[in-house]
Amino acid sequence: MTPDDSTQAVLPHFARELVQWQKTHGRHSLPWQNTRDPYRVWLSEIMLQQTQVATVLDYYARFLKRFPHVSDLAAAHTDEVLGLWSGLGYYSRARNLHRCAQQVVALHGGQFPCTSEELQTLPGIGPSTAAAIASFCFSERVAILDGNVKRVLTRLLAFEGDMAQGSQEKKLRDIANDLLPSTNLKEAMPRYTQGIMDLGATVCAQRKPACLLCPVHNICFGFASGEPEKYPVKTRKLKRSAQSLSLLWAQRPDGSVWLERRPATGIWGGLYCLPVFESEEALLAFLPEKLHARTEVLPTFKHVLTHKDLHLSPVMAGFTAIQKMPSGEASATGEPGSYGAWFSSQEWPALGLPAPIRKLLETDR
Ligand code: ADE
Repeated sequence: MTPDDSTQAVLPHFARELVQWQKTHGRHSLPWQNTRDPYRVWLSEIMLQQTQVATVLDYYARFLKRFPHVSDLAAAHTDEVLGLWSGLGYYSRARNLHRCAQQVVALHGGQFPCTSEELQTLPGIGPSTAAAIASFCFSERVAILDGNVKRVLTRLLAFEGDMAQGSQEKKLRDIANDLLPSTNLKEAMPRYTQGIMDLGATVCAQRKPACLLCPVHNICFGFASGEPEKYPVKTRKLKRSAQSLSLLWAQRPDGSVWLERRPATGIWGGLYCLPVFESEEALLAFLPEKLHARTEVLPTFKHVLTHKDLHLSPVMAGFTAIQKMPSGEASATGEPGSYGAWFSSQEWPALGLPAPIRKLLETDR
């Protein structure tokens, strides 16, 4: 059975069954549903990339309260946007979000473009996000292909192609477009798009899919094979690595802490952070000797990133009220363009800080 054969076999049934199932079993009360406002849908889709619905709910509400319209977001200062994003991770999303809002205002008169093709010209909007916005808001007949959808479709078709290869992903995207509803698009497209997301998130789970609850198990080639979990096939395994870093927690008697802006690329790009060093020796070499007696090494803690475990060792250093931070040159973050300042604890909430640094600073000491 080729992918073309299995596609032809499911084609007459899949969209209809999915749309019907979404009506009765799908999610209907998420705050970004029941709207066709592209600003709201776009914001939710960007937040939902790599982040669970439960986590997004609070952030989404806070963002919309502060920025009810795309023009409010465009006019904001980047630090405020990063501050509100703090804790959601993948900060390039927040920087692109801000740039995208600015382009919508500057280039499109404050209105999001209404085709997936044009939407993809905006920062941070890839093919799948563009398809989600265009299908939810404008009923465009275009397929999303995020991780959940790839899982649903590769199982449905017992698609053996290696998803690590771009050519196979392209093939699946073409099939995904063939499987879309072909009638009553105005209502069917948003429902189909939500339905395939809902199916992937609830029934067609990565492990132990609930096949017997699935509306299409009777046409699913993965289910028929007895090994639905085999799909999607992906050969390239993520290699995880580990890195140890020392953090300089320089504090003045009034409680203010020295924070520097990180370089735009790399870990925590563009966020404010304690100065980061490759080792405790490098950190101590940076500090004036007379401060060494006023340091305290705190317990190391682990922070897990997607591809890397960070082992972070904070070193407290008690500065006096007038002592200056040595020139940034010796600091691992002291690249041109990065800068630092003493910030009081009242100022932290509004700053874009990496979540583990915020947590560290906010622990009661
Ligand atoms: N993940 C991405 N988009 C989503 C949506 N609209 N609803 C629920 N989960 C999602």
